[in-house]
Amino acid sequence: MTSDLDPAKLPRHVAIIMDGNGRWAEKRALNRIRGHEEGAESVRAIVRAGREIGIRWLTLYAFSEENWKRPKYEIEALMNLLKRFLTAELREMLDNGIRLRFIGRIGKLPQDVQEALKETAERTSNNKDMVLTLALSYGGRQEISDALKEIARQIESGALSSGEISQELIAQRLYTAQMPDPDLLIRTGGEYRVSNFLLWQIAYTEIYTTPVPWPEFKKQEFLEAIGDYQKRERRFGALGED
Ligand code: FPP
Repeated sequence: MTSDLDPAKLPRHVAIIMDGNGRWAEKRALNRIRGHEEGAESVRAIVRAGREIGIRWLTLYAFSEENWKRPKYEIEALMNLLKRFLTAELREMLDNGIRLRFIGRIGKLPQDVQEALKETAERTSNNKDMVLTLALSYGGRQEISDALKEIARQIESGALSSGEISQELIAQRLYTAQMPDPDLLIRTGGEYRVSNFLLWQIAYTEIYTTPVPWPEFKKQEFLEAIGDYQKRERRFGALGED
C-alpha cells in the first residue's frame, strides 16, 4: 500500500484538523463521545502510519480554544480520552522513537492532564524519529498575540529593539519555534476552513480536504492524502521549473 509513494517527496511536516467526530456518531445514532473515542483510534492509526512511512513531524489539532464552549461533559470526555491515550501509547512511543510535544495554552487544561502531558513529553524527550505535537487549548490568533506580548516585553526591557523584528524573530516567539512549517495540512469532515489553526505557519502549506470524517480516516486515507500532495508542484510564489 505504501509502495506508490515517492520517499524523496514526503512532506516533512503534516498538520491535521481532525473534524467530523460528532457528525460521524450522530449519523449512527450514537453519542458524540463515541465519535471522539473512534477518533482516538484514528489518532493511533495515523501516528503509526506516519511513523512507518517516515513523516518526521506530525501536528494534531486535538482541542481548540473555541472547544472550551462545548458542554462540560464533552470537554471532560475529551480530557479523559487524551489522558488515556497518553498512558496507553507511551510504550509504543518509546519503542518507535516518537517524541511527544504539545502547543497551546496548556495552563488552562485540568491539572492531571497537564501533568500527564509533561510527564509523557519528558519521558519521550530523547526520541528522534518523529515529533508528535498535540495542539491543545490552541488558537492561532492567541498564539500570535502571545508572541507579540513577549516581543513587547523584550522591547520594554531593552533586550530587543523594534528594528530587530523580522519574520524569523516572530516565528521564534511562536509556540512552534524550532519546528518546520507544515508542508501539508489535512482537514477531514468535509469543511473548507482553517479554524484558527497554525495561522502564521501555513502561509505556503498545501491544503488537502476530504469529506471522510475523522473516525473513518485511517492509514489508507492518510496515504491517499500524501499521494495527492506528491502530485503537486510547490512554487512558494516563484515560477515553476518549466
Ligand atoms: C472534531 O470533531 C474533533 C475534536 C473537537 C477533538 C479531536 C479529538 C480526538 C480525535 C480524540 C482525542 C484526541 C487524542 C489526541 C487522543 P467534532 O466534534 O467537531 O465533529 P463535528 O464537527 O462532526 O461535530
